[in-house]
Amino acid sequence: MTAIRVENVYKVFGRRPQEAVRKLRAGATRDEVKSLGTAAVIDTSFEVADGEIFVVMGLSGSGKSTLIRMLNGLWRPTSGRVLLGDDDLATVSASRLRALRRTTVSMVFQHFALLPHRTVLDNAAYPLEIQGVGKEERRERARAALELTGLGGWEDSLPGQLSGGMRQRVGLARALTADTDILLMDEAFSALDPLIRREMQEQLVEIQQKLGKTIVFITHDLNEAMYLGDRIAVMRSGRIVQIGTAEEILTAPADDYVAQFVADVDRTRVLTASSVMLRPGVVLPAAAGPRRAARAMREAQAAAAFVVDRDRVLLGFVRDSDVVDAARAGIPRLDGLVQTDVATVDEDTPLSEIFAPSAESLVPVAVTDDHGRLLGVVPRVTLLEAMVPPEIDLPDDTPADGPVETVVGAGATTVNGNGVPDGYEPLPPDDGVPGLAPDELPAARTAASAAEVAAAAEFDATTEGGTR
Ligand SMILES: Nc1ncnc2c1ncn2[C@@H]1O[C@H](COP(=O)(O)OP(=O)(O)O)[C@@H](O)[C@H]1O
Ligand SMILES: [Mg+2]
Repeated sequence: MTAIRVENVYKVFGRRPQEAVRKLRAGATRDEVKSLGTAAVIDTSFEVADGEIFVVMGLSGSGKSTLIRMLNGLWRPTSGRVLLGDDDLATVSASRLRALRRTTVSMVFQHFALLPHRTVLDNAAYPLEIQGVGKEERRERARAALELTGLGGWEDSLPGQLSGGMRQRVGLARALTADTDILLMDEAFSALDPLIRREMQEQLVEIQQKLGKTIVFITHDLNEAMYLGDRIAVMRSGRIVQIGTAEEILTAPADDYVAQFVADVDRTRVLTASSVMLRPGVVLPAAAGPRRAARAMREAQAAAAFVVDRDRVLLGFVRDSDVVDAARAGIPRLDGLVQTDVATVDEDTPLSEIFAPSAESLVPVAVTDDHGRLLGVVPRVTLLEAMVPPEIDLPDDTPADGPVETVVGAGATTVNGNGVPDGYEPLPPDDGVPGLAPDELPAARTAASAAEVAAAAEFDATTEGGTR
């Protein structure tokens, strides 16, 4: 189910917003409509699914806050529709909007503005108090929310007695107390120091898993976006330039802007085995004879081969020398030669957790599914390569698409450090188009103008800089 649907939304601040939208639709740039107003959000469309954490990421000034404020009706779009269920926030009545804020959507800001003379419990209960919920019930619900955010035991303290991180937890609890289906969080953790911030991120994921909330989370921090987001929308100069999973954005950035944005992310935490795994060089059925195995390995120039049963469940691997010896000795089946000490990981295992098993393993780490079936392999060299963004590691004269052939053809060696040959085939890319279909992508994909970068930097310094 779709929780939020945003359709071709524009928001222009200024004197002649409608005229600005008309010109933008006709292809004018943000700069060209400047005299008419500030185009904060331009032709933006996306959907957020029920129970999804949808992250909006972009530099300061790119339009994130304006966008999220249209999701709870704080701003009305200049043009376009914002749908929460069947309600179009561009046209709902004021009373319906109030009702939606009570039951459907609540907002968590960077600064929570807790009421200083009220206890933590009464701060958390505040939204229900405004709604006229009785004291017992609202305190009960606030207590449960505080428990969820790790503040059990602090109910009677005053905000001034809490650390910054704890105050932020009260703010989160306050939003949870309202128990709306959708939580909007605008740079909610950006003022926290890194360790506390990480804790909050982990806790948010935990809470989301427990309560199944739909969360729209805004950040200008890429690692935070990648950690939290089921999907991430990258905004630039008012437009969404890419929507996709963290892996999609890392492995197939839509343009140079996105590529630069993701260049310094810790890739080993975001990329998982499935995004780098290759087709295994040689896979043999357990029932195969050593002669056939030896032939297959010779043809593939492989020093070892994985062995699977009839259901493709991984049994282990065999080494070339053992296979050849067995063939000479007339042994009919491979079964007895199989070595079972293969490191296996799931498709979803982050690369950061594959380094250790890879270092200790003679053969590439095997990627298996829930039934133990062999899906692919991660040779150590692939693991090392995956850490470096492709656009940075390739010297100008290196062909972008031929690394495997180049290595083998260079004749230096056909066997990598694991004693297993290179020449593993990359798995074909899956058919799914990352993010938007091409005809949905915004047209403008040129590099940011120097003026835009300067403006964003200035905006950052004046409005956000003091709070980070
Ligand atoms: N109330 C407003 N009036 C005029 N301009 C605004 C207003 N709010 C935001 N803007 C402008 O819209 C652009 C996007 O701002 P904002 O949505 O706050 O970006 P972000 O949250 O990504 O930093 C900026 O150029 C900003 O100056
Ligand atoms: Mg903002």
